[in-house]
Amino acid sequence: MSVMPAMEPNTTVSERAVPERAALRRHFLMCRPEHFAVTYAINPWMDPARGADAGKAVAQWEALRSAYVALGHEVSLIDPVEGLPDMVFAANGALVVGGRVYGARFTHPERHAEAPAYAAWLRDNGFRDVLEPRHTNEGEGDFLTLDDVILAGTGFRTEIAAHQEAQEFLGRPVVTLRLVDPRFYHLDTALFPLGGDNVAYFPGAFSPGSRAVLERLFPDAVIAGERDAAVLGLNAVCDGRNVVVNAEAAELIGTLRDRGFEPIPVDLSELRKAGGGPKCCTLELRA
Ligand code: ARG
Repeated sequence: MSVMPAMEPNTTVSERAVPERAALRRHFLMCRPEHFAVTYAINPWMDPARGADAGKAVAQWEALRSAYVALGHEVSLIDPVEGLPDMVFAANGALVVGGRVYGARFTHPERHAEAPAYAAWLRDNGFRDVLEPRHTNEGEGDFLTLDDVILAGTGFRTEIAAHQEAQEFLGRPVVTLRLVDPRFYHLDTALFPLGGDNVAYFPGAFSPGSRAVLERLFPDAVIAGERDAAVLGLNAVCDGRNVVVNAEAAELIGTLRDRGFEPIPVDLSELRKAGGGPKCCTLELRA
């Protein structure tokens, strides 16, 4: 027997009320890009011949940090380590859910030393349950946490075995999504959570099967186009209401506003030379 959903007789989709969105205060960990540089290439955005300007990166990063503080979020800082130019991308340092820390294990040797640095900071700052993983994974770069599921990317960096390891350790269902476009090598370059039960994403970054999974789980998702994805517009941070997002993602910013979100545009163009945006610079510490 099929049951038709109840509908107000005179309501059409275009008249659908825009919900009032509520922000939740977050605790973020960030790393000032004092030693930022592009000296090696481990993704298609990086060109060592072009390099990058650490001074400019620090100024842009400071504006991102100020934006979080102005929104009422708490920002903690981990000391940058000389010789680790990508350490600014704190999202990759771990996955923290329910006070438990699933540690990172980086794909490329250039970043290996970041994992113990983040794990040590978390241990020193009250997180007692820290798992050193057996499987390769790049933290919140490839694990995005919603209320009921954790979405997990694979294909370029994080191994599927790490998805299973994280599920077992955190006791949350982990849904594997396959990334297929090397520009979108981490899940957080192609998708971001909009509150606890919806997402925005660029379908072209995913395999056909993973696209079907996303359509089934999130029929009301915000679908972003190639132009917004190509400026790393999907590498955004939403607190339930405000969305800190690369300023160049003009179309996405308009859609978010139409859906009742408050876009907070930031310029992280210097960090994009390493393939990173606002989310990459931000590790959420979930108590
Ligand atoms: N250059 C870094 C890498 O390729 C960028 C990491 C960006 N972080 C992220 N969460 N997407 O590993």
